[in-house]
Amino acid sequence: MPKPIHCIVAVAQNGVIGREGRLPWHIPEDLEWFTDQTVGGVMIEGPACYQELGKALSGRGTVVVSRDEKKVFPGASRASNLESAIAEAEKLPWSGPTWITGGERIYAEGLAHCSKLYITRIHQDFLGDRTFPKDWQKTFTRLVWSKESRQADLSYTFEIWER
Ligand SMILES: NC(=O)c1ccc[n+]([C@@H]2O[C@H](COP(=O)([O-])OP(=O)(O)OC[C@H]3O[C@@H](n4cnc5c(N)ncnc54)[C@H](OP(=O)(O)O)[C@@H]3O)[C@@H](O)[C@H]2O)c1
Repeated sequence: MPKPIHCIVAVAQNGVIGREGRLPWHIPEDLEWFTDQTVGGVMIEGPACYQELGKALSGRGTVVVSRDEKKVFPGASRASNLESAIAEAEKLPWSGPTWITGGERIYAEGLAHCSKLYITRIHQDFLGDRTFPKDWQKTFTRLVWSKESRQADLSYTFEIWER
């Protein structure tokens, strides 16, 4: 049985996911959520995401999608396109799902491969230069789980959607 492929993302009300190479917000509970879900699986991410994290995260596999063969990503595998990255994740010795973890283009291409979407919806607009596909609800139509939360003056909802 191939590993399931899921997507995990935190999105502002206006679709923003990033600004100048960083997350535009700091929500410790969302970082914990991300860790809890992805541990034991394999993350597929772009080079800017790898750089933001500064390393391959422990307790899970990482495949970085880059066409630039000169770039090195210690602790991670490299693939030159998304399909090869998914094939590589399938081979790695982690039994959990394969996770599409961004950035912008990886999400845009990766959603077509995903059976579930783990989305943290932040109920506020943010300034930013990277966005999540606006039409994701055309693909993911069934909300199967949700939990409201807040931190200081920021409120957000953790949601899991299926096709
Ligand atoms: N809110 C969230 O949940 C979330 C999650 C992740 C990231 N982010 C934010 O998003 C930003 C980083 O993402 P980003 O979009 O700027 O960069 P990125 O996806 O990390 O990296 C972009 C690079 O990925 C490579 N690439 C992308 N698609 C590819 C493909 N199909 N085939 C081959 N290579 C491909 C290319 O690199 P080469 O030129 O090396 O080929 C491209 O320049 C940051 O601001 C980060 O905080 C937010």
